[in-house]
Amino acid sequence: MKDDSDRCGAIVVGASSGIGEAVARALADEGYAVGLTARRVERLREIAVDLPTDAYVAAMDVAVTQRARETFDDLCETMDSVDLVVISAGVGPANRDLEWGPERETIAVNVCGFAAISTAALAHFERRGSGHLVGISSVASVFGNGVAPAYNASKAFVSTYLEGLRYRQAGRESEIAITTVEPGYVDTDLAAGEFWMCSPETAAEQIVRAIDARREHVYVTRRWRLVAWLLALLPERVLRRPFT
Ligand SMILES: NC(=O)c1ccc[n+]([C@@H]2O[C@H](COP(=O)([O-])OP(=O)(O)OC[C@H]3O[C@@H](n4cnc5c(N)ncnc54)[C@H](OP(=O)(O)O)[C@@H]3O)[C@@H](O)[C@H]2O)c1
Repeated sequence: MKDDSDRCGAIVVGASSGIGEAVARALADEGYAVGLTARRVERLREIAVDLPTDAYVAAMDVAVTQRARETFDDLCETMDSVDLVVISAGVGPANRDLEWGPERETIAVNVCGFAAISTAALAHFERRGSGHLVGISSVASVFGNGVAPAYNASKAFVSTYLEGLRYRQAGRESEIAITTVEPGYVDTDLAAGEFWMCSPETAAEQIVRAIDARREHVYVTRRWRLVAWLLALLPERVLRRPFT
């Protein structure tokens, strides 16, 4: 539990449901003032009134990158202090017919939107000398997926991008932590399976613990580390069978 005098603030991007909502609630329970962003602003307002700390709501479509970055900066100005940014916004439509629409949306949100907000967050942290960026990637980042090709590729982007930001950060004076979160299946609208599925609340608890410990990388739940290791070892022709 944070001391109220810390006056810590967090922005959660993609806070209107699922993992982002649960993380926002868990951070508020820890004493953070929370900025909630997503497209479904009515849903954000309902969550905001439920939180025990100060809550701020901003409509944001991360796929409209310039506007999303301006909204992010405005929210940082409005809140007393923003030390933590969690980017959970993501989409993952199945696309067996390989239509361009779902591929384009996935790339716009999970890749362009993710990089747009990450760079805005890093610029904010560099101005204030410290901060913590957390990106929600996926165990899906380590293998291809014939059902949703852009989704797994977008998560590989997220994980590798965050790794790049950590490389960039090394040796710099500002104290900026960067955490990659790779969940397995979490019980939300986006979940593509039920194996070892956990609730958004369990995921959030583990994510907030990783944030408090300033971990660089965490699997959620922890046992998904085994799956990630196995997936990295198995040849593609073995993996093709379950993911096509
Ligand atoms: N559930 C799983 O099994 C699982 C596993 C691994 C990783 N993940 C990752 O976890 C993250 C959260 O997903 P979830 O499972 O919690 O699913 P979810 O309940 O569908 O949440 C997705 C969130 O992203 C937001 N979002 C989508 N498009 C957006 C856009 N264009 N601009 C701004 N916000 C947008 C949604 O808000 P609005 O619709 O209101 O905009 C919502 O708040 C995603 O990045 C996902 O890839 C999920």
